[in-house]
Amino acid sequence: MAGRHNVRNGIDKELLAEIKQKLEQGLFPQWMVTDPDIYDLEVDKIFGRTWQYLGHESELKEAGDYVTRWLMDDPVLLVKNKKGEINVFLNSCSHRGTHLCTADVGNRKTFTCPFHGWSFNTDGELIGVVAGDKVFGERLNKQDWNLHKIPRVDTYRGMIFGNLDPNAMPLEDYLGDLKWYIDLFLARSDGGMEVIGAPQRWVVNTNWKMSTENFGGDPYHVATTHKSTVELGISPKDPFYASYGHQVKLNHGHCVNVSTTGPGFSVPSYQGLPEEMWPMFERNLSKEQLEVYKQTVVIVGTCFPNLSFHCPVHGNEGHLHNYLTLRIWRPIGPDKIEIWAWFLIDKAAPEEYKMQSYKGYVASFGPSGTLEADDTEIWTRVAKASKGKMARNREMKYNNVLNYMMGMDKIEPDESWPGPGIAYPTCFVDYALRGMHEYWLELLTKEYEDEQ
Ligand code: FES
Ligand SMILES: [Fe+2]
Repeated sequence: MAGRHNVRNGIDKELLAEIKQKLEQGLFPQWMVTDPDIYDLEVDKIFGRTWQYLGHESELKEAGDYVTRWLMDDPVLLVKNKKGEINVFLNSCSHRGTHLCTADVGNRKTFTCPFHGWSFNTDGELIGVVAGDKVFGERLNKQDWNLHKIPRVDTYRGMIFGNLDPNAMPLEDYLGDLKWYIDLFLARSDGGMEVIGAPQRWVVNTNWKMSTENFGGDPYHVATTHKSTVELGISPKDPFYASYGHQVKLNHGHCVNVSTTGPGFSVPSYQGLPEEMWPMFERNLSKEQLEVYKQTVVIVGTCFPNLSFHCPVHGNEGHLHNYLTLRIWRPIGPDKIEIWAWFLIDKAAPEEYKMQSYKGYVASFGPSGTLEADDTEIWTRVAKASKGKMARNREMKYNNVLNYMMGMDKIEPDESWPGPGIAYPTCFVDYALRGMHEYWLELLTKEYEDEQ
């Protein structure tokens, strides 16, 4: 039981009040970046309670198709049953807890545990016990030993989410106004989007907040971090080119940046998508969504805490392509994340376009893409420089705070913006990230209230 002032591991009421005060000034104490105590709190209070992306319905086509995933540290099995429903289980045998299915993907009628051979069907029911009656007799009621379902599972436009908190708010409410923006790519086409290939995965030595923030509200880094792409002529020379457009601050820490082109450039026709798809978009999107979408070249953002999306128009081999990458930054420690990156494209797009677009994605935002490696290197550097004695000083003797003050008291929201949320008329602001920090602290502090 926590002491009166001790929320956990020395993070107390006073310290939380101090953090709040700093955040209000647009300052983020550097000691919190990779602090193990903060991380422990995040695991319980943020990742144990918010909706986490697990995969896309298009990854499971036939009965028996399955994929294995992680919900933070819990192994998860997603499997399509005979009725075509997707079941989501803890991927741990109900007998003695063995990690049941370790393949990434496959098709099976039953899952047999490698330890003592118990087997389960696609509904998670225990259907086979080796030497069952002889060794357990009547004491074993098989129905009591089915696989455990993840406490909450829900989907939005093909995206499957899980939540470890049985009392969490409904997914619809959690996503809230973010749905309006993700519909710009998830709902524009008949049939929605589909995943191509398996999600790529790699480990980066950083803290999840770095990658979450990078996609959530940091177009400011583009011209410098990705300078090589400017030199290669892939990105424009204008240092402000990533600033054009709107940054939108949404509830629950969600952030979106809707980028347009700068002066002298025009929006590529139909976002590089085949022209014949456009009437479909006009049918599926609202007037306001179309108004925004016609100006857009990139939509990038984060669904708090760790699902990011990036839907750009990219050039490759003389063609312009549009696609969507969904990615999760799965924390596996205070200074380590496992990135999972999915490639998605409109189901209704011509097959040839899908493949060209996939190539464009691999060349730019695949793990070895021209832009991808730049980011991971920088996130690693932030984590590395935040682990020393000076950076981690909780009294902040060295004024060890990070700066999120861009645009503060300077840029007013654009009242004419047709979409929901608070929209600022440039992407070179830190409003969305400050909103993310506010929600982050709200979740951490809520637990403090509970512990009183
Ligand atoms: S742990 Fe799975 S059958 Fe024993
Ligand atoms: Fe980047």
